[in-house]
Amino acid sequence: MSSEFSCTTPECAKRAHMQCPTCLKIGIQGSYFCGQDCFKSYWKTHKIIHMLAKGPGGGDAKDDEYRPWPYYSFTGKLRPYPQTPMRKVPESIGRPDYADHPNGRSLSEESFRGNTSIKVLDDEEIESMRVSCRLGREVLDEAAKAIEVGVTTDEIDRIVHEACIERDCYPSPLNYYNFPKSCCTSVNEVICHGIPDGRPLEDGDICNVDVTVYHRDFHGDLNETFFVGNVAEKHKNLVKVTYEALQKAIAIVKPGERYREIGNVIQKHVQTHGYSVVKSYCGHGIHRLFHTAPNVPHYAKNNAVGVMKAGNVFTIEPMISEGTWRDRQWPDNWTAVTQDGLFSAQFEQTLLVTETGCEILTKRLTNDGNPWFMDKL
Ligand code: MF3
Ligand code: CO
Ligand code: CO
Repeated sequence: MSSEFSCTTPECAKRAHMQCPTCLKIGIQGSYFCGQDCFKSYWKTHKIIHMLAKGPGGGDAKDDEYRPWPYYSFTGKLRPYPQTPMRKVPESIGRPDYADHPNGRSLSEESFRGNTSIKVLDDEEIESMRVSCRLGREVLDEAAKAIEVGVTTDEIDRIVHEACIERDCYPSPLNYYNFPKSCCTSVNEVICHGIPDGRPLEDGDICNVDVTVYHRDFHGDLNETFFVGNVAEKHKNLVKVTYEALQKAIAIVKPGERYREIGNVIQKHVQTHGYSVVKSYCGHGIHRLFHTAPNVPHYAKNNAVGVMKAGNVFTIEPMISEGTWRDRQWPDNWTAVTQDGLFSAQFEQTLLVTETGCEILTKRLTNDGNPWFMDKL
């Protein structure tokens, strides 16, 4: 490589024969050197421009670190990793409307936006919900088996994707408003909507896996938070209290109860333990549509509209945080994280209101229905 450029090192005017490889990788033009000797002797000063180019925190970054948003200041320790290309679903599997929309918009959902009337499902529709929710449960149980130190969240996503296809299900998150993966994996300070990527799970992580399947026109939605290796007692307690809060909320579900009561029950339980309730994300009606009326806030003194009726189907999915309830979003426009970087946990079930109370359509069918962590606390 001959050039008309001269060496960048001050007081060296020799013709340049190389460029700094790190600069080339980052995209900095003009870092020419006459050879290895000048490059090495000027390195201590020169490398400062790498750090400046990488932005705040760049000094700690390895040269090969994936940094999609160099100027974004993270709230906690978690970082994004590269994602694999979008997976495909065989044409033989029935797809929701948004699966083929260029922006992933669901026009069927959007046609009901602002409508607060809550559907009462007939017997046939209820039976369809039972089936899709049971299949969703099977898929989540498959994902749960795979969770361990060193496994990437992308690998969890692959297992979810394939388990869906084996059951004649479309993985509902895939392309929903352009969400790029088949489930959400939310680690540590991630509240919800974490995108599966190449990050290997680490000892001490907590990882929520949120699965929704679409089978013969109906969605079933559930999630659980799992332990990776040895988790600190304080984080184990967060997960336990979050599970209890969901159980207590489910216990009040019956015809005549107001949807706004659910948040009072959840907040009362978690604040006793010093935790907070995330306000930006809510439970939702679900059937032929992924997200529809009712809106179900998990915090106290909310203004949710509606009274429960037999035949209503909806989710309760409290997100509970160790510190602040406030959330922020990563520049990927999906990943919701705590504003203070402390951990957050979540559990979700899809419920059918019955004449006497409710049926947990996504309930665990193994372990006597006990949560997976019963023997791990
Ligand atoms: N499953 C989530 C819920 O409980 C929604 C995920 S939407 C996605 O409502 F696009 F992020 F996948
Ligand atoms: Co949901
Ligand atoms: Co969900």
